[in-house]
Amino acid sequence: MCGIFAYTGKKESLPILLDGLTSLEYRGYDSAGIYMAETGSVKSVGAVENLKLKIKGDEKGKSGIAHLRWATHGEPTEINAHPHHDAKEHIWVVHNGIIENFKELKEFLTKRGRVFLSSTDTEVLAHLISYYLDEKKNFEQAVIAALNDVKGTYGIAVSYKNEPEKIIAARQGAPVVVGIGDGENFIASDPSPILRYTKDVIFLQDGEVIVITPSSHLIYKLDSSQIKRDKETIEWEVEQARKSGYEHFMLKEIMEGPEVIENTIRGRLIVEEGLAKLGGLEMVAEKLRSMKRIIIVGCGTAYYAGLVGEYMIEEYAGIPVEVEVGSEFRYRKPLIDEHTILLAVSQSGETADTLEAIREAKRKGVLTLGIVNTVGSTIARETDAGIYNHAGPEMGVASTKAFVSQLAALSLLTLFLGRQRQMSLSTGKRIAEEIKLLPEKIKQITDKKEEIQKVAQKYSEARDFLYIGRKYNFPIAYEGALKLKEVSYIHAEGYGAGEMKHGPLAMIDEHFPTLAIVPSDSVYEKNVSNIQEIKARKGKVVSVVTEGNKELDDLSDDTIKIPKTLEMLSPILTIVPLQLFAYYFATTKGLNVDRPRNLAKSVTVE
Ligand code: G6P
Repeated sequence: MCGIFAYTGKKESLPILLDGLTSLEYRGYDSAGIYMAETGSVKSVGAVENLKLKIKGDEKGKSGIAHLRWATHGEPTEINAHPHHDAKEHIWVVHNGIIENFKELKEFLTKRGRVFLSSTDTEVLAHLISYYLDEKKNFEQAVIAALNDVKGTYGIAVSYKNEPEKIIAARQGAPVVVGIGDGENFIASDPSPILRYTKDVIFLQDGEVIVITPSSHLIYKLDSSQIKRDKETIEWEVEQARKSGYEHFMLKEIMEGPEVIENTIRGRLIVEEGLAKLGGLEMVAEKLRSMKRIIIVGCGTAYYAGLVGEYMIEEYAGIPVEVEVGSEFRYRKPLIDEHTILLAVSQSGETADTLEAIREAKRKGVLTLGIVNTVGSTIARETDAGIYNHAGPEMGVASTKAFVSQLAALSLLTLFLGRQRQMSLSTGKRIAEEIKLLPEKIKQITDKKEEIQKVAQKYSEARDFLYIGRKYNFPIAYEGALKLKEVSYIHAEGYGAGEMKHGPLAMIDEHFPTLAIVPSDSVYEKNVSNIQEIKARKGKVVSVVTEGNKELDDLSDDTIKIPKTLEMLSPILTIVPLQLFAYYFATTKGLNVDRPRNLAKSVTVE
């Protein structure tokens, strides 16, 4: 998501801050800003280059904070760009994360005469710290007091005009790294902008606050007690640091799965009431109650997410759903009435075919919704309402973390629509409880990545691969095959397991392996029969099964085990081993998985 950076030391900070931002650019962003206590702030929308153009040359100071914003609350505008400040312009804050209770805090502060300039959640932090300074707390105490009032996630750096040498940083759910230099110290979202100055770092833990000056660093907990932590030396190169030490963005993004689901569902589940709270749909909630049909559009991975959504929404909300690729929807005659809505799914929010499908639907007077990852993107702006993924920027061309987050968002939408209709409180609660458990369950899968790597290596000479699944995992067969195609360039085909005997079975022999997605669900027995048909033709089978399943250990050549969850949510788990399988399959062949040939991350042409 956003990137924060701060410096305090003996040198002029401006070039260091700008370099820091350039190093963080790879994280993806839409606006940038810096603040130096002596000369104030400079902000701009777009590239760091735009920010540099706004620098007059007389900005100076031996410390400062800097930020790249990847919008979550409020459009990417200069006013919303960080750093944010209090009324007196004494306290300046850069923030990565989401303040969940910002509305309550804003109300509290507004009642006490504070005036807000931006529509960000971050601005409340600056006002809140300033409020505690006015209450006669010192800088450190004021920051700690404010953080005790905050719910949500943050990696922050705070500067105070009256104590310019001091920077205070804190972490809760968003990374903060502290660089310990010689007469200078740094704060950043990851080590990449720090490594050129020092390899000695401290990784701040959740619930910790650090106060740095050029020559000191003191760590506190939120109860104000002081703690000691030794610095560690990291040997990563800058490129490695950007990937959190992983070899590729694709692997880093698959491994981020648990955190991504946490971010997508944060603040959106009321488990005890079996409800999903989706702020972005509030405005249209009444229209959604009377809506009778949904058309989901998307391209590539987003389209497959839509197919899973079809199963979820039809089964649990009882609303008929059709799913269509954007490039087809716009060229046929869609049969639409006033009770139909169009739901666009898109990571980038810029895919031309999806966008044109939305425009076509709008021309026909249809209400349009979006499940979009990039805030302020064209699709986010042009749809009437929607749900943001909050998955953070995705760098790998082959979509991985965005997919799991799209599925999580669709499960929230299903809960939302279902509870507007017939879904009982107990079903709602069960779904909400299971959604909450997903991050931990994904982690159990990613923890076994070496096991999956061995399986992928074993099959890496295969020139074809068939992927089969049924019901909720039918689209996962498509998506699993797409991942392998995208990154390894071999022929991979997704198929409904029941359709095998209507064609693909003819291709099966000992050189044509199958990846079968067979969790213990309502179609398990049927899938087992299909696997038997493949085995009878000497086909090799890798099965993704639920933990505790012994039957398929015997029947398959290899099995990959995943934790049990609700059938509806099983795709969120089954896709993870398939992503890892594709990753290791391709890297065994030495291919560039982050930038596959002939493909683009965002396709803005027809
Ligand atoms: C491209 C990307 C895919 C992505 C698709 C849709 O083809 O390579 O990974 O699934 O576009 O992109 P969107 O940004 O709309 O989700």
